[in-house]
Amino acid sequence: MHDFQYRQGELYCEDVPLSRIAKEVGTPCYVYSHATLLRHFRAYDSAFQNIPHIVAFAMKANSNLAILRLLAREGSGVDIVSGGELYRARQAEVPTSKIVFAGVGKSREEIRDALKSDILMFNVESSAELHAIDEVAAEMGVRARVALRINPDIDPKTHPYISTGLKKSKFGISADRALEEFKLASSLKHIEVVGVHKHIGSQLTDVTPFVEALRKVLGLVEALKAQEIGIRYVNIGGGLGITYADESPPRPQDLADAISPLVRDLKCVLIMEPGRVIVGNAGVLVTKVLYTKEGEAKRFMIVDAAMNDLIRPSLYGAYHDIRPIREAAAHGERKTVDVVGPVCESGDFLAKDRSMPEAKPGELLAVMSAGAYGFVMSSNYNSRPRAPEVLVKGGEMHVIRARETYADLVRGETIPDFLR
Ligand code: LLP
Repeated sequence: MHDFQYRQGELYCEDVPLSRIAKEVGTPCYVYSHATLLRHFRAYDSAFQNIPHIVAFAMKANSNLAILRLLAREGSGVDIVSGGELYRARQAEVPTSKIVFAGVGKSREEIRDALKSDILMFNVESSAELHAIDEVAAEMGVRARVALRINPDIDPKTHPYISTGLKKSKFGISADRALEEFKLASSLKHIEVVGVHKHIGSQLTDVTPFVEALRKVLGLVEALKAQEIGIRYVNIGGGLGITYADESPPRPQDLADAISPLVRDLKCVLIMEPGRVIVGNAGVLVTKVLYTKEGEAKRFMIVDAAMNDLIRPSLYGAYHDIRPIREAAAHGERKTVDVVGPVCESGDFLAKDRSMPEAKPGELLAVMSAGAYGFVMSSNYNSRPRAPEVLVKGGEMHVIRARETYADLVRGETIPDFLR
């Protein structure tokens, strides 16, 4: 459920017509619904209300400061993967006691910054990283709290690029070697082992792989207990899918119902890292039709948003519904088109072979379900300034990130004297 609905013949975000936003900030632009964000966060959080837990929003999905702030005010923590994300989280005043740090390649500077911030824990992905964290913590005279990320070798049955819990994946420590790694971790003087972590992939549309992976992890927790390695936190990662087309993914409550019986008597704090399920359907990308073009073999609808604004279709072949903002246009004659952007690449498309109502130049379209991995994956390719982001709350619209300017494009670049 989201708050982008037709009213009086126009697509609205809550009480604001998207056409008004397009008029004020131009296109392309990202628009997020405050009500949807809140509802999604609360649905997730309250599904787990009977279990001690921390929701650590996976901010890689959407790291705008306003969104982080609004989730933090609801009690959310964050899952970070870089020093930059730590910086953003701190700017948004996310409590550091709810920050967990994942990723296979944390640099020593990033480790130092995170220790300085006294984050809740690192999710460690290799023994080399354990040693690095131990060394940095020793230099600083502190102990680093860590969880080890286990790769449970479970197929999440999702796109290979967003599948992370298989043997061949770069993520985590294999379940067979986990016990050994935990022993190493607990022998290191500046490491405090507090948890176990897993995340098997993204856009999961079935709870079964979650449950299987968790069973493996809980087996390990038992084995650790026998070795007197106490685990206080079990982190189940993120990955719950959303509806882009006709998927019917489990709801947070279904996930909670499936895993609660397994963790109820564990006496651990559960950590979850949902990203997409919180923000995905809370955002759209508004774009304008520039031209239509009858190619020899295909029809093209050329719009002003491109792969640099939303790369998911190009990178994963992802499907995003595209709706005209004028409802009447939605009922026009349909034709099969490729919806493409101005970037000079054949891979620049938002939809392929899509049956779309005909649209004239100037018509506004909403690319749906673009709130997760949308703006955050955008780039300046073809020297295109990145789109603005707008947060709608009831009848109010707030620009939460301004459109980049041409000057922004060259910020930091210099022409050396010998070229002058
Ligand atoms: N925790 C960890 C350790 C992760 O690596 C991820 C996502 C999440 C949590 C959040 O997963 P979510 O709940 O959002 O599924 N760019 C891709 C998705 C990449 C996901 C990377 N890791 C896409 O656009 O589909």
